[in-house]
Amino acid sequence: MSQPKVLSFHLMLMLSAFTGAANGYYFSRWNKCIHSSRDLSDMVYIDNYIFNKDIVIEYNSTVGKFVGYTELGVHNAQIWNNDPSQLQGMKSQLEVYCPHNAEIRQKAIADKTVPPKVKLSSVKQAGGRHPAVLMCSAYRFYPHWIQVTWMKDNKPVKSDVTSTEEMPNGDWYYQIHSHLEYTPKSGEKISCMVDHSGLTKPIIVDWDPSLPEPERNKIAIGASGLVLGIIIAAAGLIYYKKKSSGRILVPS
Ligand SMILES: *[C@@H]1O[C@H](CO)[C@@H](O)[C@H](O)[C@H]1NC(C)=O
Repeated sequence: MSQPKVLSFHLMLMLSAFTGAANGYYFSRWNKCIHSSRDLSDMVYIDNYIFNKDIVIEYNSTVGKFVGYTELGVHNAQIWNNDPSQLQGMKSQLEVYCPHNAEIRQKAIADKTVPPKVKLSSVKQAGGRHPAVLMCSAYRFYPHWIQVTWMKDNKPVKSDVTSTEEMPNGDWYYQIHSHLEYTPKSGEKISCMVDHSGLTKPIIVDWDPSLPEPERNKIAIGASGLVLGIIIAAAGLIYYKKKSSGRILVPS
């Protein structure tokens, strides 16, 4: 559920031998450089030889040698493991190829990561089945991979949820809006959870059903106006009283 905090990239080599239009045999080779720390110190290099989705041979830099998983794989792994230049070649993948490419991706994507700002609001119903609609919006994040999840009493809800795509703002950042249609029940807690690679833990915003924000703002403005009015009226009254008590009444 969490966003990929582990960065990896793959180089894929795929060779196929067709025996007909629809079926065939596939041989593929996947190289993976996997790391999660910024200084790339925990880099692991994986090289897989795959036949029809089955791994035949795997090289894992932590293990430091080839491991065969089929009869042919075991046979070849043994030969390669006895060849110092093969093993040296694999080592240089870990020490040169992986850090070089990881650094490029790190600078282009990961270092520019900006976590989202999340806002939960109630929106007007557009003729749905449920009386209430909530909108969870995430703004100004990069890169665009994001996960928005609705929760009722801390349990994920999948139904009655519609979401936009991640929309580019045109200024490098993205925004996304997810809607939840629901029937309000008393005591039920509704939350929106947002996870993004720029966050160390997901943002969870609980819905406060007391009053929608524009209503709260109107009441706050009204109340401030009332208080101000009372102060001015009181000041005026005091001023008037002082003035009138200071006046000497001259009989006409
Ligand atoms: C590589 O080998 C190490 C040590 O056996 C293991 O912990 C790790 O999960 C392996 N990595 C992959 C991607 O298979």
